[in-house]
Amino acid sequence: MSNREHLNHLLGIKGLNEAQIQTIFETADTFKDLLNSQVKKTPALRDVTIANLFFENSTRTRVSFELAEKRLGADVVNFSSSSSSVKKGETLIDTVNNILSMKVDMVVMRHPAPGACQFLARHVNAQIVNAGDGTHEHPTQALLDAFSIREKLGDVAGKKVVIVGDILHSRVAISNIQCLQLLGADVMVCGPSTLIPRNIHTLGVRVSHNLMEAIEWCDVANMLRIQLERQDQRFFPSLREYSSLYGLTAKKLASLSKEITIMHPGPINRGVEISSDVADSHSSIILQQVENGVAIRMAVLFLLAQHKL
Ligand code: CP
Repeated sequence: MSNREHLNHLLGIKGLNEAQIQTIFETADTFKDLLNSQVKKTPALRDVTIANLFFENSTRTRVSFELAEKRLGADVVNFSSSSSSVKKGETLIDTVNNILSMKVDMVVMRHPAPGACQFLARHVNAQIVNAGDGTHEHPTQALLDAFSIREKLGDVAGKKVVIVGDILHSRVAISNIQCLQLLGADVMVCGPSTLIPRNIHTLGVRVSHNLMEAIEWCDVANMLRIQLERQDQRFFPSLREYSSLYGLTAKKLASLSKEITIMHPGPINRGVEISSDVADSHSSIILQQVENGVAIRMAVLFLLAQHKL
């Protein structure tokens, strides 16, 4: 580890190795202890200024990054494209360079275009953290998901994880598959064939079109939202039919011979991919995922800023 160059950006899980992910987890363990203490804050990044640039809607990721930055003592500036001069035709590089000229060190960016963070990293002089780029990657979501499995089940290695739903349009699925496999999990994707990329098997995942078969097999089910905003055609006859075949309900879970852990990256569409009683059940770790997001993002920002990743 000591002879290699350190990462300057977090653009995706692709590009990380298992040792780097374990370093992020161990650092997040320390930050989680801090967050659960009376103090909650450290001045570790007090000389660092971070801009959160969100060109696409977000609740969890935006709030989580902002809290993580403030808990680390960084100066924070928030930018939302809907109220900015992007609406007047300014390019991404011009927008970001104008913000950087105000002495910003790091940029956390969510953007609807796949590859937007890579593009930015090549063209501007700042550390870039990908907070979700189109259908490409959402690396901090995958890290917090794997961290939450490790916390709940003791380890990720050897665990069977099924990701259910709209795999075709999901950056969460792609980042999760890579992260879980690096950590030694066995990964399956499940959904209608129209929502599963045809070449997905090249990633070394199992594929199922039968939810009952998938949940019988797994230790963990990660339920994904149908991303209607990224669909320009109909991929299934109706939400009602999708829900009856792929929605996770208490009745389906009760028919299993074991208890499984239920996850969801949010936002939830209650009654579509997951029923309310399952989302709120003791098997669900959905809110623990959100809680862990702050510690994971603190770890990523701290390690990048200190050139320790
Ligand atoms: N999981 C996630 O990315 O949620 P937001 O879109 O609310 O940030």
